[in-house]
Amino acid sequence: MGPNSNYPDPMAKDNTTQAWVVNPSGPLRGDVVVRGSKNAVTKHLVASMLGNSPSTISNSPEVGDVDITISMLEALGCEALKDEDNVTINPGPLSSSRVPMRFTGLNRIPILMVGPLLHRVGEAFVPMVGGDAIGARPIDFHVDALQKMGAEVTMTEDGLEAKARSLRGAHIELPYPSVGATETVLMTACLAEGRTVLDGAATEPEVIELALFLQRMGARIEMRPNRRFIIDGVEQLTGASHRLQGDRLEAFSYLVAGLITGGEIRVHGCRQERLVTAISTLYGMGAKFEITDSSVSAWADALQPTAVETDTHPGFMTDWQSPMVALFTQCEGLSVMYETVYEDRFTYVPALKRMGAQIEMYNTPLGSIQSRFVGAATPCSVVVRGGETLKGTQVEVPDIRGGFAYVLAAAAAEGTSTILGTHHLDRGYNHPIENFNEIGLDVKRVEVPTPPDT
Ligand code: EPU
Repeated sequence: MGPNSNYPDPMAKDNTTQAWVVNPSGPLRGDVVVRGSKNAVTKHLVASMLGNSPSTISNSPEVGDVDITISMLEALGCEALKDEDNVTINPGPLSSSRVPMRFTGLNRIPILMVGPLLHRVGEAFVPMVGGDAIGARPIDFHVDALQKMGAEVTMTEDGLEAKARSLRGAHIELPYPSVGATETVLMTACLAEGRTVLDGAATEPEVIELALFLQRMGARIEMRPNRRFIIDGVEQLTGASHRLQGDRLEAFSYLVAGLITGGEIRVHGCRQERLVTAISTLYGMGAKFEITDSSVSAWADALQPTAVETDTHPGFMTDWQSPMVALFTQCEGLSVMYETVYEDRFTYVPALKRMGAQIEMYNTPLGSIQSRFVGAATPCSVVVRGGETLKGTQVEVPDIRGGFAYVLAAAAAEGTSTILGTHHLDRGYNHPIENFNEIGLDVKRVEVPTPPDT
């Protein structure tokens, strides 16, 4: 993965695989400091390509997605320097317009490089994007937006080829407030000729953080009510520095680690405003909080069941869904989770059932938001009968957040669990083993033979 990488190479082929062995150790208590958000850092690294001088991103988490993104930028000719939690990108003269095929399917970031590459070199190739297997995750909104701004885009077997002599502002209306497509538009429009009006934009905190970074680089971006951004293209952007805000997905996950084991975790580094809906949902279940300017801690005498539906910001975010379902397994009574953002985000549930959780899956929307996936073969809702004692077992991680749900369930279970496929967790969480050990969980990293069917 290059000299900057400390992430186990997901492309390395041998006959062993990383696993974690978890021994439940009672209530988890203590402090966790979360670093900058995984879903913001990589976008800031890509935005750095647009500057005419270096940019530095601080409070960067040590997660695999950072290493993968840095390696892609280096393959294009950017220079990257990691110094503790700072990453500096010198956008230099680019030596290539093509993200190499070896990055196929590793994460969602290559598609975000198309706009910046078109501005820098007039052409781009990016291999097929990947990321967690939580739905079809098409890139049609990105492609439509790039075409509206003047790019010629061709989909090939290997990925996406694009060309543009120049890019111009356009009126773009997203059919759904996609985080990634909003980021594509922001990063493409800020150097395009003329005005772009983006309607139906995502307003997730990580998206706003990117818009603010681009503004810091010299972009003319207005935020209007009702999901509208107005971007007036400028001739050039300069490098900028930014200290990332804390990761709200990690923060929530550790708060749940305390609650699910009957303990109490104090999370530092993620502001309350980023967790508002998580906190109000947990309050509704009977959790208690101590909230200060720099930390949030949660505990509970007993938790009541509830019904939750995932949504775009400021709703209950989809990435909080699997830790919450793990928590439902330990709340006496019936809880409901309805997933509305992705069509296949319950793939982790069968393994929880093998651990003894009582969960039924339904194709019927059990909530008020209209489903975008009518007729999908995959379940969109689950009903959890909480209160069962879970039993430790061997499970395999399907995606980052599902994987964390397994660790939570294993921490609350009786007996040892072995969790396979933990490279997903390394891709998304900053030093998770160290954090878990710090709050009292006995979890160790081991190498095990690759099971025959993986
Ligand atoms: N969509 C389309 N066409 C597109 C783009 C999106 O149909 O061209 C659909 C998706 O299939 C999905 C919905 O729109 O049903 C929302 O997808 P979005 O584009 O918002 O997701 P993303 O940008 O690919 C980011 C995060 C996800 C997070 C979502 C929603 C990154 C790298 N990933 O994905 O994070 O769940 O926004 O907030 O930023 C995670 O960290 O575990 C994770 C999956």
